[in-house]
Amino acid sequence: YRNLRVAVLGGGSVGSQVTALLLEHADELAARAGAGLEVVGVAVRDLDAPRDADIPKELLTTDAESLIVGADIVIELIGGLEPARTWILKALHSGADVITANKALLAHHGAELFEEAAQVGAQLYYEAAVAGAIPIIRPLRDSLAGDRVQRILGIVNGTTNYILDRMDATGDSFDDALAEATRLGYAEADPTADIEGYDAAQKASLLSSIAFHTRVPLDTVHREGITSITAEQVVAARKAGYVVKLLAICERIVDSASGIDGVSTRVHPALVPLTHPLAAVHGANNAVFVEAEAAGSLMFYGAGAGGLETASAVLGDVVSAARRHVIGGPGVAESTHANLPILPISSVMTRY
Ligand code: NDP
Ligand code: HSE
Repeated sequence: YRNLRVAVLGGGSVGSQVTALLLEHADELAARAGAGLEVVGVAVRDLDAPRDADIPKELLTTDAESLIVGADIVIELIGGLEPARTWILKALHSGADVITANKALLAHHGAELFEEAAQVGAQLYYEAAVAGAIPIIRPLRDSLAGDRVQRILGIVNGTTNYILDRMDATGDSFDDALAEATRLGYAEADPTADIEGYDAAQKASLLSSIAFHTRVPLDTVHREGITSITAEQVVAARKAGYVVKLLAICERIVDSASGIDGVSTRVHPALVPLTHPLAAVHGANNAVFVEAEAAGSLMFYGAGAGGLETASAVLGDVVSAARRHVIGGPGVAESTHANLPILPISSVMTRY
């Protein structure tokens, strides 16, 4: 195989898992990608900080800029706006494809980053930026590209879904449910972005932009959080046949006043009928319910966060980027290298 040089920026919850999987599954990933994926280093702030997953000490560095130079693929997992933005621009400029899970950065500076990528002929992949492990970016961008998406209803923030679900199941107050979400590690030390809906609004702006093939700036997304929801309201909603969910709603609608066909994107608590599939999304899980003209209703469900789970989406992007380097094109190819044995039907029957 040709060897591709992979630089990982960030060795935290996601970055450490991505690195560990790149090392542990190197042969399998190389076979699927059609190229060896050599981790040239992992940029962190503190070389001695504990890591969720083992990273060989010799790979750790505080010199991210040197790591970027000469890399074929740069994976940005440091989060925040700067220096992530500058480093991604530098990576694109030096000819690397870039993978990021950074929804905040994309929501604020996506236009600039995508323009730079287009100008230099590089790709910017971001499957992990919305709903963690759930494949939703590619399905919307590629699989549904021939259809017309009419509406997306997304539970795209795990922390708030956990809080509302707990208030519903136990009658806990908002504060008690938030404390439990924090104890379990779902909420950040500063949970503002989650509970005030900023995180969901960033994801909604990305979903809406992809689904409607347009640019939906973050400041056009209406946003309300869940801090004013009371246990009494949640209980009353259930009695009336509803459950309260923080929804990201991306809709193609005709404005009743002007008659103009356009897009509306908003994040706010909503009453979801108990019979709707989204009502069954419990705990910190995410789900994205898509209504398309030809396809009808589709639902994408799973873990919206977690280092290992999110690493799955990042690695899918790594394989796509590697394939693009090797075979050209958009980075989609049949995988025919696994050589797994075909099992007799009896071994399947005994398992179910
Ligand atoms: P963490 O805070 O766990 O890790 C961030 C990493 O980046 C750390 O290793 C930190 O170094 C390093 N870092 C931060 N700033 C710098 C800097 N200036 N120079 C060098 N290294 C730096 O973040 P996560 O792994 O949780 O998240 C990474 C990205 O993934 C974010 O954009 C997040 O929004 C996104 N994401 C995360 C999910 C999750 O479940 N965690 C889910 C979906 C997306 P050090 O370790 O030394 O402090
Ligand atoms: N804080 C986010 C959540 C992490 O709770 O969903 C994943 O983006």
